[in-house]
Amino acid sequence: MGTARGFGVDIGGSGIKGCPVDLDGGVLAEERMRIPTPHPSTPDAVADAVAEIVEKFGWTGPVGVTLPCVVKEGTAHTAANIDKSWIGTDAQTLFAERLGRDRGEVCVLNDADAAGMAEMSVGTGVGRSSGLVVVLTFGTGIGSAMFIDGKLIPNTEFGHIEVDGHDAETQAAASVKDNLELTYPEWAPRVSRYIQALESFLWPDLIIAGGGVSKKAHKWLPLLEARTPVVAAALKNDAGIVGAASAAVTSGDV
Ligand code: BGC
Repeated sequence: MGTARGFGVDIGGSGIKGCPVDLDGGVLAEERMRIPTPHPSTPDAVADAVAEIVEKFGWTGPVGVTLPCVVKEGTAHTAANIDKSWIGTDAQTLFAERLGRDRGEVCVLNDADAAGMAEMSVGTGVGRSSGLVVVLTFGTGIGSAMFIDGKLIPNTEFGHIEVDGHDAETQAAASVKDNLELTYPEWAPRVSRYIQALESFLWPDLIIAGGGVSKKAHKWLPLLEARTPVVAAALKNDAGIVGAASAAVTSGDV
């Protein structure tokens, strides 16, 4: 004990995961709890799940929560892989009320931004933050976090660029690999095509590939054909929790 702790909850298309976080080390302080994302994933149903996780740990301090949405000043503005009723929801107030906290004790941010911030501060991005770094999370969708000399430009939605006439994440997300039962060699060209499209207008210096599928990075990163160096995220599935917990104690907002 004696180290600073925070609490992060990561809301994804398939699971809601949360845990106290050791903020100095940037690691989970306990074994995380996971609840399957309720269906439909309405704000009230998701808020109940978040409260269940926070209460399970008896946590009373500030809480950071990620959403797979564009989030500005606590309000969700998009909802690609979560119930559409999130659009326009003041998530910060919803979670604060459900958790019995002041609004300022809850921070809500985009899931990929949270994961990206964790990667840059305690993961693969440490010592490699100069220039333009893009963190991509491959999961149910594709999330993105863009950093210029280490500073986050929040709410980039690069998973939705149009590639060959399609919304990119519908062709190259990790869920597509699972749903179509693709092997890594079958899925990797889809990711290459996506990254090449992104590169055509962004020219990043480094891409950090995250999401659960980055646990098996050795099976697909070597197969990618891209101009930009692509390296594996360090924090894998925990990055969102770690980033959310840090954001809650630093800024209270992004
Ligand atoms: C959403 C993003 C999110 C990403 C990963 C996309 O469909 O539009 O906001 O970061 O999925 O969950």
